Amino acid sequence: MTALTTRPALAPDALDDVDLADPLLHARHDLGPLWHRLRTEAPVHWQPERGDQPGFWVVSRYDDVVAVLNDTATFTSERGNVLDTLLAGGDSAAGKMLAVTDGGPHKALRSALLKPFSPRALDVVVDSVRRGTRGLVEEAVRRGTVDFAADVAAHIPLAAICDLLGVPPSDRQHIIDLTSSALSSADGAPTEEATWSSRNGLLFYFSELAAARRAKPLDDVVSLLVTKEIDGRPLTHEQIVFNCYSIIMGGHETTRFAMIGGLRALMERPGQWQALKTGQVSTASAVEEVLRWTTPALHSGRTATQDVFLGGQFVEEGDIVTAWMASANRDERLFDRPEVFDLARTPNKHLTFAHGPHFCLGAFLARAELTALLESLCERVAVAEPAGEPGYVYSNFLSGLSSLPVTLVPER
Ligand code: HEM
Repeated sequence: MTALTTRPALAPDALDDVDLADPLLHARHDLGPLWHRLRTEAPVHWQPERGDQPGFWVVSRYDDVVAVLNDTATFTSERGNVLDTLLAGGDSAAGKMLAVTDGGPHKALRSALLKPFSPRALDVVVDSVRRGTRGLVEEAVRRGTVDFAADVAAHIPLAAICDLLGVPPSDRQHIIDLTSSALSSADGAPTEEATWSSRNGLLFYFSELAAARRAKPLDDVVSLLVTKEIDGRPLTHEQIVFNCYSIIMGGHETTRFAMIGGLRALMERPGQWQALKTGQVSTASAVEEVLRWTTPALHSGRTATQDVFLGGQFVEEGDIVTAWMASANRDERLFDRPEVFDLARTPNKHLTFAHGPHFCLGAFLARAELTALLESLCERVAVAEPAGEPGYVYSNFLSGLSSLPVTLVPER
């Protein structure tokens, strides 16, 4: 069996030497020891300016991350909720797209979107996720050796979101290609042009789809958005397009990285795999630990709207504040043996879906997709083994593997 190599741990002499905005840092290193040091020595750490890159606060302890995410009046998302847009000076979708809107408008938009994301409304989508996932796993097992990332995991979340949004099957590969290059890159740091062109490609696609649904509404989320009124007014075309973008960006790569990272963790720990297969641990508990372990969204970004003390530090109005779920989910103050992948972990109050008013809208769907995957793997696969080295994504926001070659031995 090929044992997978692990990435070198980062052990800097000075914390100020580290640039957490650098995608290469996240792709090439195991940042576990760095996060431990930050939580211990500098839980609210100022990463200094670098050339024309502004400085920003790095929040690493669980309780401080929760405090930031809960208080949207003091820590707003309206200037962006990811480091790259905050460093670039703001988000053009602010006040229009759910994730970067706060206060009353956020509440109104969120309640308009809650219904299609409710467990009952998602019944049909989840049914189709189960069938689709079983088919993909069966096909992978039949082939024996596959790239689990490209051949299995890439298709499950995207199919679910496309079902939800009403994207026809013929357009789905186009959407996969655009989505994967909009936030991360599989072959080096993403260039600004590549990111810009993919984002615009997605916005253009949804602009056309919204126009089509306006002319002839169907039973999907795009149709709901084009027919919905908030405070007696229809959503603007921009609001509709930005929110479709947000749903696809929020739900595709994140869930995919949880799936790939989950399989890797199971391959590396045959005891945990057996515990899951034999029913010694429940799938529901396993899903939560896969979510904590993988933490696909590394941070949530905010801007301080007023001067405030946070973790003993004085944060000034206008400062960029980044709350790192990647660190909070390994905080020894909350989790017993956080560096152990334990499918039976309980309680498991991870922050993978964030916390507070912006808590992930797609959490139920993501959990259902991971459940379908683990169930299909347990049913069809006796043993999963690495068949080559994995590839890491280059991103300071998303964490995961861009490829994972595996050999799947069928269950008899
Ligand atoms: C919000 C993570 C799956 C749609 C969020 C946030 C996080 C997150 C951390 C909060 C962002 C912030 O605080 O600024 C994840 C992870 C997922 C996942 C790790 C999978 C494992 C999904 C899915 C969808 C989705 C499947 C939709 C199909 C959204 C939306 C928001 C959001 C629309 C904005 C909510 C708001 O601002 O009120 N997600 N997500 N996510 N997520 Fe997810």
